[in-house]
Amino acid sequence: MRTEAFNYVAAGAGNERTLAANRSAFDRWRIVPRMLRDVERRDTSVELFGRRLPSPFLLAPVGVLELAHPEADCAVARAARDTGTTMVFSNQASKPMEGLARILEDSPRWFQLYWSRSDALVESLAARAERCGCSAIVITLDTTMLGWRSRDLEGAYLPFLHGKGIAQYTSDPVFTNLISEGAIESPEQQPRPTLAALRTLIELTRAYPDGFLRTLLSGRGRAAVQRFTEIYSRPSLTWDTLAFLRERTRLPIVLKGILHPDDAARAVAEGIDAVIVSNHGGRQVDGAIATLEALPAVVAAVDGRIPVLFDSGVRGGADMFKALALGARAVLIGRPYVYGLAIAGRTGVREVIENLAADFDLTMGLAGCRSVSEIGPEALVTAPGNS
Ligand SMILES: Cc1cc2nc3c(=O)[nH]c(=O)nc-3n(C[C@H](O)[C@H](O)[C@H](O)COP(=O)(O)O)c2cc1C
Repeated sequence: MRTEAFNYVAAGAGNERTLAANRSAFDRWRIVPRMLRDVERRDTSVELFGRRLPSPFLLAPVGVLELAHPEADCAVARAARDTGTTMVFSNQASKPMEGLARILEDSPRWFQLYWSRSDALVESLAARAERCGCSAIVITLDTTMLGWRSRDLEGAYLPFLHGKGIAQYTSDPVFTNLISEGAIESPEQQPRPTLAALRTLIELTRAYPDGFLRTLLSGRGRAAVQRFTEIYSRPSLTWDTLAFLRERTRLPIVLKGILHPDDAARAVAEGIDAVIVSNHGGRQVDGAIATLEALPAVVAAVDGRIPVLFDSGVRGGADMFKALALGARAVLIGRPYVYGLAIAGRTGVREVIENLAADFDLTMGLAGCRSVSEIGPEALVTAPGNS
């Protein structure tokens, strides 16, 4: 991967303390394996919204996958279909969801939404997700603004400004109408014609799905990026806003980015169908609580009424086991599959999925559990010095 692309994926916010804390939180717990429990036959599946997942993990929504591989989300969809793993389409995907849905055939998929300033766009994306056979809509709450990501700032790099990661927008009829509406910029805002500006213009023009020359002449490549930056998210989002989507979709709604037990309890009260304990892989608030630290209180607040999912820092079977033991129904995997994608496209993602599944299966069996339902808090102790 190019340096700026790798940095975009690997980075955390600020001094990357939460990025590190997500990992070290797993070290505070140790598994206590139990013996003589006949673990010859094992079942690693879990149930979510009426479907069985073969292993207790999903592929987290990750935007701008073209930074890792030209086939981007399409390669991930192929690997997801190969393995029956649920793929969560990112709102910032590099490929429109309709094409991904075709690749997935009947393999499960969800859609992740960033709540736009435009209600019409929110409605349109949700309707497209339904038509694409998504079985849930994940609203990501923790990224109403991008976090302070030092590595990206140092490289002065934001992929969206190069027209990357906006395919769900440029393929959307409401968004394309929004580009045409009114003047987007005054002539004095036009960038100076430097070599770098020209390179960016070519990238933006290529990214727009209208053909290079047509897009160059119409200026829609640059206009799309500008419209995107104006409307991609709504920092004023509140609990009340969510009712808008509840009234417009029959799909289960999942809230991603829940870290406080009171927010989890509120989600249940508001009729939300599941929550994801996530800090966006440490990319938003540096110094934020590690997700494994946040998980037990959220699980207690939810009290079994809706599934609690978990992500940020999961890197192997033991991590999954610990998250499940502390009450998560399933976990989401982020960066590991992006690295698989970067190294070997579809094969790389499939390898990551298969390795994680095998690692989890062995860890579960060797810990003395035949199925996920046998994994509970009694399987863990805190490491010395971490009472
Ligand atoms: C490069 C990158 C892009 C991401 N893009 C999105 C996104 O578009 N939507 C979203 O909800 N989360 C996004 N996330 C967060 C992931 O869904 C997930 O919460 C996080 O990666 C989990 O942490 P992990 O990478 O440590 O496994 C992104 C994460 C990374 C690393």
